[in-house]
This record gives sequence, structure tokens and C-alpha cells, in this order.
Amino acid sequence: MEVLTAEDHLSLMTLDPYKIRKDFPILKQVVHGSPLVYLDNGASSQKPEIVIAAIEDYYRTKHSNIHRGVHYLSSMATEQHEEVREKVKALINAKHDYEVIFTSGTTASLNTLASSIGKKWISAGDEIIISEMEHHSNIVPWQIVCEEKNAKLKVIPVKESGDLDLEAFDHLLNEKTKIVSVTHVSNTMGTIVPIDYIIGRAHKKGAKVIIDGAQAVPHQKVDVQKIDCDFYCFSAHKMFGPTGVGVLYGKEKLLNELPPYQGGGNMISNVSFEKTEYNELPHKFEAGTPNIAGEIGFGAAIDYINEVGYENIQEYETNLVNQAVNALRNIEGLRLIGTPEERAGVISFIIEGLHPYDIGTILDQQGIAVRTGHHCTQPLMDKFKIQGTVRVSFSFYNTIEEVELLVKGIEKAKEMLS
Ligand code: ALA
Repeated sequence: MEVLTAEDHLSLMTLDPYKIRKDFPILKQVVHGSPLVYLDNGASSQKPEIVIAAIEDYYRTKHSNIHRGVHYLSSMATEQHEEVREKVKALINAKHDYEVIFTSGTTASLNTLASSIGKKWISAGDEIIISEMEHHSNIVPWQIVCEEKNAKLKVIPVKESGDLDLEAFDHLLNEKTKIVSVTHVSNTMGTIVPIDYIIGRAHKKGAKVIIDGAQAVPHQKVDVQKIDCDFYCFSAHKMFGPTGVGVLYGKEKLLNELPPYQGGGNMISNVSFEKTEYNELPHKFEAGTPNIAGEIGFGAAIDYINEVGYENIQEYETNLVNQAVNALRNIEGLRLIGTPEERAGVISFIIEGLHPYDIGTILDQQGIAVRTGHHCTQPLMDKFKIQGTVRVSFSFYNTIEEVELLVKGIEKAKEMLS
């Protein structure tokens, strides 16, 4: 496939990234004398004006603690906060708003689940399945559970293409499998995992399925009822919202079965020294004062995504990422790490003989922000027998010109480092 010119590319798309870029103040920056080319969206995306304004407005005019006061400000803050829960419910098509638990991020969501599930559902000899492409935050919490409960952690291997080996998955599944916890989109390779298949097979064996959707929700529509996952976790900061806010979605029945993760204010309905009764969902899992401002900012980010539209986002990004893959393939000595069947947002590569960190440093000198290293997926690096990669990760405000600048930047890095 040929690399399209910027005009050709744009004329084919419904979404106009140049218009969108105007909403993101940080993208106007000049870095080391060059316009910023921000290709580290997998780590965290940038924030549009409406998100920044919502947080400012909250602190200027509405701030107070929620669920605690009868006074005007507390009622306003509570109302606004709970509206965001409704927005998240609609975004992922949860059945009930109380199936949406606010956390501090995907890592917190996964740790909450692992801790509560470990206590309630896991016994000696049980098995938990994860995959070889998981982020450390979907590995380590399960290792802790397995150690505590004398359970077994099993790992679905990744094929050379960066796709999951589904045949191997079928062989790993059995009656002892209690939990399958996998990513929706690989943060290192961009692989879109066939979660429908995984959820269907796991449910047939009676296992519960957790999906780490941190890298999926920024790029594609997720319908938790349609995919029928038991739990789904993601972070606001990778989808144009603030840091320190995340979501743990769970089916009502299952969340009701699980014990709370943390104790404290808001998660109780009655406390005495003899016995404490826990609050109902979602509060049972929301101990303490949450990140109210962040969650309100998250609401604005959801409004922004809805305005741009997932269909447009997906169409635009798929095309842009395909163009980038084709352009990178033309660079001599560059090896893509992962050439999956379906990809969202992320591309990893190495260049024979060059250290990813050095490439990243030279790109940075040209204003191009990428991530280098193991991307919190060390077992995946071991699988490919590499130390790390250069990772470029896209959002819908990136342009085909930025892909061209990236390619030029890599060529320059090659020249300087060879
Ligand atoms: N998990 C984030 C990443 O992949 C930080 O970069």
C-alpha cells in the first residue's frame, strides 16, 4: 500500500485533525526548537480545553466534598460527580450506573479486583489465566493472589505476529480456571485481542473474565453488555481526561458477591465496634474522598469523545496507523515488533544495532515524543528476546505530516548513531 499525501489522506476522512488540534493547547508547543510531535498517547493522551476548563470551573465554583453535606456546594459537587457515572455507564453501555466504580486508574481497578477476588473466589489448586502480552499491572496482582492462595498462574503465549495463540488458550482452560484476565489492546504492540472468543470460551468453563481496556477505550467503542465481560478496567488519562481517575466496571451480581477492597468513609452504611455493614454499590468499593475534580474532568473528556464520535475516531486512526506501519516498513534495518491481524493506536519497533533509548533521545531533540523501553511488559520483551522497543502511539489529533516527520527523525537517528 502506498503512503498517501496529506491532502489525499484528509479528503478521505470525516474527522479533521487540524481542527481538533486547536482544542489541545499543549500541541501548540515548540520542543527543542521544533513543533511538538506527540506520539506517546499510549502512556497518556493530551487534554482538550473543555477538560481543563471543567476542572478549573469545579475548583472555582463548585468544590466541596461529595455524599457528605446537605449544603449547596456539597449537593452541587455530588450531583456533578454522579452525572459522570451516568456518562461512563452510557459510554460503555453498562446496565446500571452503580456497576461503574471510580478508582484512581486501571492499575487500581485491577488490584481491587485481584484482592477482592483472591479473598472470595480463589482457593488452593485454582487456576488463573493471563497472557504473555499483559502489562505488569495485569500480571503482578495475580502473582500475589496465587502466592497467597497457592493457586496457579497460567499464561497464554503470544505468537511471533504479536497475536495471542488461541489454540494454546483452549488447552489452558479447564474446570479449575476461575479467572481469565487479559488485555483488550496490547500497550506494546497494539494487538486487538479477540476478547469475544476468549470471553465465550472462558464462560463455557465457568470462569470469570476481566478485560484490561486501558488501551482500547481511547480508540474504539466498547459495549460491556455486548461483549459480556464480567469486569472491564480503564483509565481516564489515556482518553483525554485527567490523571488519577479510572473505572472498574463489573456486573452487579458479581460486585455484590465480592468483599470491599479498602475500608473507610463512604463504603459503609453502619459502623459499630461489634459489626460494620457495608454500603451498597458503587460506594462499597469507593472508600474515602475520591478524585472529584478529576472525575468531573473525565466527564468533560467523555463529552469530547462523544462529540468527535467513535466511528470517526476509529476510521481516522486505523487509516493513520496503517499509513505509519507502511512508512516504517520502508526504513532499512527497522523491525516491527508485532504485526498483528488487527491493531489499534500503537506500533513498536527496533532498529538493528541501535539502542531504543538512543533513538528516543534523538527523536526528542527533534521535538518528537515517543516511549522507549520495555513498556511494563518485560515478559513480552523476553519472548521477543529484546531489551526494549521504540513505541509510537497515536491519537486522532496526530496527522500524516507527523508520520512523515517521524520517518525523517528515525532516518536522522540512524545516520547519527551508525
Ligand atoms: N501503561 C502505560 C504505557 O503503556 C503507562 O505507557
